[in-house]
Amino acid sequence: MKRELVAMEFDSLLNARRSIREFSKKPVSEDDVMKVLEAATLAPSSGNLQPWEFILITSDEDKKKLREFCEESDKEWLDRVDEATRKKLSKKKEISLDFLTDAPCIILCFGKKNKEQWRESVWMAIALMTLKAADMELGTIIYTPPRSSAVNELFNISHHLSLAAVCPIGVPAKVPKARPRTPVAEKTKTVEQISSEHRLTREFTRRTDDPILSFMKRIPVLSYLSDVNREELRRRFFIKKFDKGEAILNRGEPGTYYYIIANGLVEVLIDDGMGNEKVVSVLSSGECFGEMSILSGEPTSAAIRAGTQVFCLALKSTDFLNLVEEYPSINVAITKLIATRLRKTNLSLVEATVLQGITGRLSMISLSELCQALSVNQRSGILEMSHIDDSGAKIEGSIFFSQGQVTNAVLPDVSGDEAFYTMLAWPDGEFIFRQEEVEPDFKVSADTMGLLMEGMRRMDEAQIKDEV
Ligand SMILES: Cc1cc2nc3c(=O)[nH]c(=O)nc-3n(C[C@H](O)[C@H](O)[C@H](O)COP(=O)(O)O)c2cc1C
Repeated sequence: MKRELVAMEFDSLLNARRSIREFSKKPVSEDDVMKVLEAATLAPSSGNLQPWEFILITSDEDKKKLREFCEESDKEWLDRVDEATRKKLSKKKEISLDFLTDAPCIILCFGKKNKEQWRESVWMAIALMTLKAADMELGTIIYTPPRSSAVNELFNISHHLSLAAVCPIGVPAKVPKARPRTPVAEKTKTVEQISSEHRLTREFTRRTDDPILSFMKRIPVLSYLSDVNREELRRRFFIKKFDKGEAILNRGEPGTYYYIIANGLVEVLIDDGMGNEKVVSVLSSGECFGEMSILSGEPTSAAIRAGTQVFCLALKSTDFLNLVEEYPSINVAITKLIATRLRKTNLSLVEATVLQGITGRLSMISLSELCQALSVNQRSGILEMSHIDDSGAKIEGSIFFSQGQVTNAVLPDVSGDEAFYTMLAWPDGEFIFRQEEVEPDFKVSADTMGLLMEGMRRMDEAQIKDEV
């Protein structure tokens, strides 16, 4: 085909594509759905990581389940939004997502959360998917439910996948008129033409030689961020000063801030199990602390004291959790840091108790610390746990490790991921680690770090629910 003809066809495809909200009941063959998804997989992706995963829903029962859930969460969301948004939206008729049951196939578009820039890449794939569908005279609509992670629970999908969009696909029953677009000339400027709306303010430009900003650039955990993201983050940091000997964090307190030391020395103290405080580590400029308790939702296991006068950058726990959630590079950097720190500070204590097969108390070392120590040391064996529940009954469970990886977790009534998450949430209890070679029989859906991150996320969620 001549080049001009191809260009013309492409332009008419771009112009003809619409978001389709009304579908006929006509079926779409599996072959056609796969052609559409094949086009999606041709999308560019960061580092060619191709972080997309598609899950298809075709049964009436599952479509109904999804629709009921989405309508319910849309309503909940509408109750929570501000008055102006509600007024604007309630002009529309009652929330009714017919397209979720009328379309013959629903494509759940997921991204692998551990891949850098997964969100951007998955959306590139979705864009190609909508175009390919239009090219085949099929209709699609992009729908984004407010509580997207609950869709994982609905269909038992691992939380390592994050839902970007729900895309029904089918034969259009009605093709809506084109929605208006702002002319491209209004959306495009040369640098000289930038209007006041888009120009950086004086105050903001001055930030580029802000010493805190250049300090942040040198912190390993923050070094992977783009300049724009770092500047954005800069505004969320506080500066805190502590005098020599002052307690920064007390053992047993909940973690409320994530700290980065700007200047001075900080001592990390732990209880040696006999009531004596022992300095196990000294942290200096550029090092950070406070993340473990925020991530685990458990009280701080070590006390932190200013060894000299100390200046810290402090980030509120909620901002810190958003940071870890938003930036996979920071997530990975912090996980590595926790593992290394554990090796440096807790190892002697952990070795003296856990690794030698001596019974310990969860109030002394949390399960997440134990798992990380066993993971870092690539241990194989069985971690036997016991806990007294609210009714006074003793519950016993086991977690199996092979070369540091959790392979299974077992409780009397549940096993695998759920058993692991249940034990992770036990605030107290006893444990013993029996070192032995265990036949690796993987019954969990993620590696040790993945299970810990997901378990901690669930604990955060449960805590928020409790607070509400
Ligand atoms: C990120 C994203 C989220 C969207 N979410 C919804 C949605 O929840 N419900 C809906 O009806 N349309 C949704 N849409 C479709 C837009 O409303 C639609 O693309 C826009 O109005 C322009 O119309 P057109 O696609 O027909 O050109 C979404 C589109 C995008 C890109």
